[in-house]
Amino acid sequence: MRTRLDHLVTTALQQGSAVPAFTCYDFTTALAVVGAAEDAGRGVILLVAPKTAATPNGLRLIAALRGLADAACVPVAIQLDHASDPDVMADAVAAGADSVLADGSSLPYEDNIALVVAARALLGADVVLEAELGGLAGDEDRAFGADSAGVAVAGLTDSAQVEDFVARTGAQLLAVAVGNVHGKYKREPQLRWDVLQDIAVRTHIPLVLHGASGIPAGELVKAAAMNVGKVNFNTELRTGVLSTLQEQLPGHRADGENLQGLLGHWNSSAREFAGSALGMLTR
Ligand code: 13P
Repeated sequence: MRTRLDHLVTTALQQGSAVPAFTCYDFTTALAVVGAAEDAGRGVILLVAPKTAATPNGLRLIAALRGLADAACVPVAIQLDHASDPDVMADAVAAGADSVLADGSSLPYEDNIALVVAARALLGADVVLEAELGGLAGDEDRAFGADSAGVAVAGLTDSAQVEDFVARTGAQLLAVAVGNVHGKYKREPQLRWDVLQDIAVRTHIPLVLHGASGIPAGELVKAAAMNVGKVNFNTELRTGVLSTLQEQLPGHRADGENLQGLLGHWNSSAREFAGSALGMLTR
């Protein structure tokens, strides 16, 4: 069922839980994520990458996700992730996205604020806006081996800027950089809980933790207590799917080019991952 992303996250936080958000490059993964959410009886967020939304096929995927979300038995929100191009934002919302991460975190501070303000003016009051303060290192769509180009340096949100940034952008959720990175961590992730705590006392809007892949469950379970109501996963989800496909591909080719059977394994892999993340973040 359709839901406002901010309401979904706020309601979860009131129960001491956070809502996982999963990047969906395709419909098979989205079906698995929504299936896992229905199994758990919990709401979930489907993320669409900006490179996906920048293509005609990607906009059709968003429309299909809209149909999937509307027909689900649990609340499902669709968010355009990490967008900085106004055309992509407007197209994604027109196609059915409920929410946009207007991401100016790589820009100078004032330009970051201007990007979020412009997104609000463009998209109107009904679209839920997340903003990001403090750039996250790493590539959102590709993860490199920890032994090669794994991400070692993480950005850090300047907590002194938080109140001003939230007030001037009007953002409804705030993505923070506290030692988290996109992709694979080069070393054991060292989350700066002290910085997160400092941010949490400076704003009442829900915080968002990107780059959750590779962060141990024992750390992630602490998130909701620091007002982190949304936790984003991509790398671990797709690594699991790709490993399963690699393992299953030869047998399914030999079994009469059995694509249908292979898609079943794809679904199971993504469903299992989403189910365990939902369980981990639920109190
Ligand atoms: P990971 O790929 O590190 O899980 O990050 C996902 C993410 O933050 C999507 O916005």
